[in-house]
Amino acid sequence: MTGAATTVTDTSPSAPERADDALKAELLALAQEAAARAGALLRDGRPADLGVAATKTSPIDVVTEMDLASEKLITGYLTEHRPHDGFLGEEGATSDGTSGVRWVIDPVDGTVNYLYGRPDWSVSIAAEYHGERVVGVVAAPVLGETWHAVSGQGAFLNGHRLRCRPSPPLEQALIGTGFGYITERRVAQAAVLQELLPRVRDIRRAGSAAVDLCDVATGRLDGYYERGLNPWDLAAGELIAREAGAVTGGRPGQPADGDLTIAASPGVFEALQPLLERLGAWHD
Ligand code: IPD
Ligand code: CA
Ligand code: CA
Repeated sequence: MTGAATTVTDTSPSAPERADDALKAELLALAQEAAARAGALLRDGRPADLGVAATKTSPIDVVTEMDLASEKLITGYLTEHRPHDGFLGEEGATSDGTSGVRWVIDPVDGTVNYLYGRPDWSVSIAAEYHGERVVGVVAAPVLGETWHAVSGQGAFLNGHRLRCRPSPPLEQALIGTGFGYITERRVAQAAVLQELLPRVRDIRRAGSAAVDLCDVATGRLDGYYERGLNPWDLAAGELIAREAGAVTGGRPGQPADGDLTIAASPGVFEALQPLLERLGAWHD
């Protein structure tokens, strides 16, 4: 259309409500503070004799008392500042809220690493506004690294703007992945890996899906894929990867979800997605 500029206001009932910059800034500041507080609690308060408090989907899918304390701290802090928001937290925080904002929280992503005193675990907090992901924060306190992204405003590590790596050919790509906790799923994941490993530079399994996605954003991986993620595993990291210029998705034509999550620099994504589809990485 040419000629004088016109302003068109979409008043149809289905018009999505958009978060403005002021709301995004408020949600980002709250997510960063909540992640910093939870991260400090987890790092400084980890009992020397930390044990397993409960198991979930299988005997190796563990929860510690610190996962529960972290989620309580995060939801308590956010509720204090925004009492009408909803929650989806891995350890049980679930509510709809009335403000249009929903917080998606993994209070410890990489619990097995945390249990063993390994450094690569994280706190992952994302904010959605009317279903659209607008803010993501991933804090890895022992690594001294905090990533964040705001939709349309880029991705950052400790305040420094990120771009994913330039895409190498797939056979020179360093690819991260992860495995579920159920034996049958692992059998299928091992079969996919057996086919994939000879076709790439190498494979990494670090143990926190949120950090894996941030590693793509940071250029520490060329790509990452995993089947079986839950919304709290991927919500913040997927936005961070996307805002750093990575392509994210699931099966061809689908968004990243529990069937399959892929994040990679654009050329690697283009090669990896059809290969994973052919190898059946999306089913057990
Ligand atoms: C797990 C980690 C792991 C991934 C699993 C997740 P949790 O989350 O992100 O890297 O491979 O699929 O369930 O249980 O430590 O919060
Ligand atoms: Ca997780
Ligand atoms: Ca967790």
